Amino acid sequence: MMKGLILAGGTGSRLHPISKVVNKHLIPIGKAPMIYYPVRTMIASGITEIMVVTGPESIGDIAKLLGSGHEFGCNFYFRVQEQPLGISDGIRLARDFTSEDKLMVMLGDNLVRETFADTVREFERSAQGCRIFVKEMPDVDGLAVGHVENGVVTRVVEKPDGFVSNLAVTGIYLFDNRCFDFINSLYPSSRQELEVTDLINAYFDLGACDSYVLTEDWMDAGTFESLLRAGPLFGVD
Ligand code: DAU
Repeated sequence: MMKGLILAGGTGSRLHPISKVVNKHLIPIGKAPMIYYPVRTMIASGITEIMVVTGPESIGDIAKLLGSGHEFGCNFYFRVQEQPLGISDGIRLARDFTSEDKLMVMLGDNLVRETFADTVREFERSAQGCRIFVKEMPDVDGLAVGHVENGVVTRVVEKPDGFVSNLAVTGIYLFDNRCFDFINSLYPSSRQELEVTDLINAYFDLGACDSYVLTEDWMDAGTFESLLRAGPLFGVD
């Protein structure tokens, strides 16, 4: 079975004051709160057991909004991340929930047009390792990017200063359950977070990471500029 994890913690500091009192993932995009979009993407990708992680100040609001999952046709499980110590720290909280299964992770501010039922099914049945979802973007400022050799992604780099490539590493990932052991061997980065890029590179070191190239719209709605574009692009229904 494939489990799902949506990360809805963090400080949302780039959207202050909007996200100072209200969790970023509760901000409306079109007719729905931001977190509805990754929830819909996961369900459309065939995943119905979904853990949602957020900070202690928001867990009540998020659980109240999403409920049991009955309305969506899934089951939600909620866990508190005590401090926003990074995406890999959030993933770590899904260890017991994932158990012997594999895990699809989505960042709660990622909006994407396509759904992933085929690739998720294939990964669940036959793949080992990690699969990242990448997208050619005109502007990759503030994103992780792929290092490309002979047309293949061989490593990822978190928010590089100089040019590496235009291939953004989106906040959508598939992992086998070795990810939890790899996370235990990570060290905090200079911004004191356990980075998802370090986790992905641990798989690349073993030759166990591949990438799926998105062909339709994707964005991370974590900045004012992207939040303004998100409504017209994704918030239509
Ligand atoms: O959107 C894609 C990008 O997302 C990737 O290219 C980067 O590799 C990845 O680090 C991330 O970059 P951001 O700068 O956007 O990360 P941010 O701190 O904004 O957090 C992204 C989401 O993860 C956000 O919805 C909140 C959640 N989060 C974040 C942290 C640090 C947590 O739930 N817990 C955390 O501790």
